[in-house]
Amino acid sequence: MTHAPQHRIQVVAHRGASEDAPEHTLAAYRKAIEDGADALECDVRLTADGHLVCVHDRRVNRTSNGRGAVSALELADLATLDFGSWKDREEGPDWAGSAADTSVLTLERLLELVADAGRRVELAIETKHPTRWAGQVEERLLLLLKRFGLDAPPPDEPSPVRVMSFSARSLLRVQEASPTLPTVYLMQFVSPRHREGRLPKGVRIAGPGIRILRSHPGYVEKLARAGHRIHVWTVNEPEDVDLCVRLGVDAIITNRPAAVLRRLGRS
Ligand code: G3P
Ligand code: CA
Repeated sequence: MTHAPQHRIQVVAHRGASEDAPEHTLAAYRKAIEDGADALECDVRLTADGHLVCVHDRRVNRTSNGRGAVSALELADLATLDFGSWKDREEGPDWAGSAADTSVLTLERLLELVADAGRRVELAIETKHPTRWAGQVEERLLLLLKRFGLDAPPPDEPSPVRVMSFSARSLLRVQEASPTLPTVYLMQFVSPRHREGRLPKGVRIAGPGIRILRSHPGYVEKLARAGHRIHVWTVNEPEDVDLCVRLGVDAIITNRPAAVLRRLGRS
């Protein structure tokens, strides 16, 4: 795959600067913005009372001092939990957090943070377990994006927001409701139907895991020939960053935005 010399790889902070601060907290996203990340990645789930919150796991057990499924808890319940202290337990309290920075993060608050960033910061929003909710995750997401004027970007301009999913059905729902909003099809492995570089209908961006590139670097060329952009996750090791550069991918999604920017010679 050949790119013009000015090809600039976008650096996307995965769950925020999640190596340095607890994932999916304001602390992690503020750090990513300070580090110079081009975009922020977040996973979204619906609470029992219909709020979109940024939590990766089905349950809150790993990343908070509470227990239970996000879908069974109301936002007020989640607001009583601390989503930061687990990081202290695992790695020592060496990140610059505060209580206010580590409460549950709603997608609405993250959109406000991005709006106030003072520079362009894009958002890559991943719908988690959308099949369980039969369209509600996408519906709530698009309503929220509409409130921020982000649901219908002009087709001829780069969109500040994109929606990602491992579920082609979830992406289709987004496309049907909001045809100009870019979608990213995430892949943990390459299924036979996508082996030649074709993606689900309407999807223009491929989201392969870094393992796919390590084992099948030629797949990038196939995706590019089919006209797709390529956003790779989760790229934390220097040699993987170098592989992405060699292959000419379009975005690197990483827990370590500062280190990746250094590796790319951008800081
Ligand atoms: O950016 C895509 C990546 O986040 C998908 O995997 O499990 O970290 O959500 P996961
Ligand atoms: Ca994710």
